[in-house]
Amino acid sequence: MSNKFKICKDDFEPRIVGFVCNWGAYSSLEMAGVNKLKYAPDVKLIRLMCLGRVHTGLVLKAFEMGADGILLLGCPPGSCHYEFGVDRTKESVAQMKKMLNLLGLGSKRVHLVEVPPDDGEFVARRINAFVKRTKDLGPSPVKYAPSQIEMVDPSASLF
Ligand code: FES
Repeated sequence: MSNKFKICKDDFEPRIVGFVCNWGAYSSLEMAGVNKLKYAPDVKLIRLMCLGRVHTGLVLKAFEMGADGILLLGCPPGSCHYEFGVDRTKESVAQMKKMLNLLGLGSKRVHLVEVPPDDGEFVARRINAFVKRTKDLGPSPVKYAPSQIEMVDPSASLF
């Protein structure tokens, strides 16, 4: 008998933490709300004054606490209100991705998006794309070792 957890791809609801810059990204989220655009509810958003506040330790802590993916929503190039915040985040993300690969989580679980201000459609599309990507990756190996789980294709499990 197999000791694997069977997880149906369609039933897997990823836990995603979204760190959101108060300026460009948050204004776009507000615009998405004003225009009643839908984006996946799987992302728990945390608002920060600038994405430059996010460091590798914070991201690793979120994974340790059960996140399946981390989305970073910041200002577009040259628009950071604190000048170098988003550039600093880009450097951090490059380091994070290397570290996540070393730890076996894979670099695709962290994603930085430079969001133009007041563009609700753009931010909703990017959130939905990241949720889909994280669903495809499956649960974080911090929660389950890949050898413990078996992702089941829903069409194959009907009969
Ligand atoms: S103020 Fe938006 S990323 Fe710095």
